Amino acid sequence: MSFKVPFGDVKLRYESLRKQIEESVQRVLPSGYYILGPELERFEKRFADFLGADFSVGCASGTEAIYLAMKAAGVGPGDEVIVVAHTAVPTISAISMTGAEPVFVDIDPSTYVMDATKVEAAITAKTKAIIPVHIYGQVVDLDPLLALGRARGIPVIEDVAQATGATYKGKIAGTMGDFGAFSFYPSKNLGAFGDGGAVCTNSEEGYRKLLMLRNYGQSKRYHHDEIGINSRLDELQAAILDAQLPYVHEWNVRRREIARRFTAGLKDVVVTPAESSFGTHVYHLYVIQTQDRDALQQYLLDKGIQTLIHYPIPAHLQKAYAYRGYKRGDLPVTEQVTQRILSLPMFPELTDSQVDFVIQEIVKYHALNPQHVFVPTPGITTPLAK
Ligand SMILES: Cc1ncc(COP(=O)(O)O)c(C=O)c1O
Repeated sequence: MSFKVPFGDVKLRYESLRKQIEESVQRVLPSGYYILGPELERFEKRFADFLGADFSVGCASGTEAIYLAMKAAGVGPGDEVIVVAHTAVPTISAISMTGAEPVFVDIDPSTYVMDATKVEAAITAKTKAIIPVHIYGQVVDLDPLLALGRARGIPVIEDVAQATGATYKGKIAGTMGDFGAFSFYPSKNLGAFGDGGAVCTNSEEGYRKLLMLRNYGQSKRYHHDEIGINSRLDELQAAILDAQLPYVHEWNVRRREIARRFTAGLKDVVVTPAESSFGTHVYHLYVIQTQDRDALQQYLLDKGIQTLIHYPIPAHLQKAYAYRGYKRGDLPVTEQVTQRILSLPMFPELTDSQVDFVIQEIVKYHALNPQHVFVPTPGITTPLAK
C-alpha cells in the first residue's frame, strides 16, 4: 500500500546519500575483509568520538548490544534487572537471554520514560542491573539512577536504541551509565541497511570483555576466556554506518524541527510530547495521546497517513512474560498510556507540506469529533524546551 504520508521511508536516506553509501560498498566488497576488519575498527573509533565515550564495540543488533552489556556487567541466571514495560520487547528479550528476570517499574506520565523515583523500591538482593530506556528519543532522568546504582553497586545500562545523539545535561546519551547499548536497525536515528548495534563504555575492562563476548568469548584465536556468542557488526554495515555518521546531528535537528511544527499545530487538540528540561529529545518517534486513538488512527489511514502504536501491549502483559505473574493494574501509568498513544510519521526527509497535511487532518478530525479533543492538563505535560 502506498501512503500520502508514510510512517517512515529509509529508501529516501539511501537516495540522499547514494554516492557515499555506494563508495563504501565498492570499497568493502573487493577488499576481501568482511568480518572484524578495518572498516569496523574505524567506525568504532569514530562512533566513540561522536558519543564522547572512550570505547565502542560493534555488534549484530540492538538486542545483542543490551545482552552483551549485561554479560560484561556480570548479569546471569537468577539475577534481577530493573526495567520498564513500556519499551520494545527486545529490551526484555535481552534480559531473558542472560538468564536473569525483568522486574518492571512504571513510567513518568509526561515523558513516558522510566520513573526514576520508582526504582529504589524495586531493588532486592538479587538486583544486578538497572536499564533506563531512552524511549522515543528522550533521555531518562539519569542522575538519581546513577547515584542509586553507585551507592548500591548496581550497574546502569542505558538502552539508547531510540536515542542516538540525544543529550542529558550536556552529555550524549549512552555515555553516562556503565554501558550504553545502541541499535542500528534501518529506521533508527543512525540506521544501517540491515541489522546492527553497538555498546559504548568508558571502562577499559568492560571494553576488553565486550570484544571477547561478541566473538565466541575469544581472547585470542582458539583461546576462550568467556562464554561468548557470535555478534559482530560486519564490514559492509560498519562502512555504511561510518558514511552516515557525519549527518546524524543534522538529521536530529530536522527531527526536532518537524516535532516543533507538529506541536505548534496540534497542541490544542491532543497531548503533544513533553520535553524534559535537562536534555535534548531527538524524536526517533513523535508520539501524541488522544482520547479515541483507534478511531483517529483509522481516520488518518483513510486519508493516506500511516501511523503506528509504540507499543500496544506493554511487556509485563505479553504472553511470553505471563510466567512472571504480573497482572493488569500493576503498572497503571504504562497501561493507561498504552491505550492512548499514537506515533505520527517521523523521519528527517518528511517535508513541511506532509507535516502540515497530517496536522490539518488531525485538526479536522477533532472539529468533526469535538468530544475527543484531549488537551494537556497541568502536571501532565511540561513546556516544550528550546
Ligand atoms: C528501545 C529498544 N530497545 C532495543 C531494541 C532492539 O534493537 P534491534 O532491533 O536492533 O535488535 C529496539 C529496536 O527495535 C528498541 O527500540
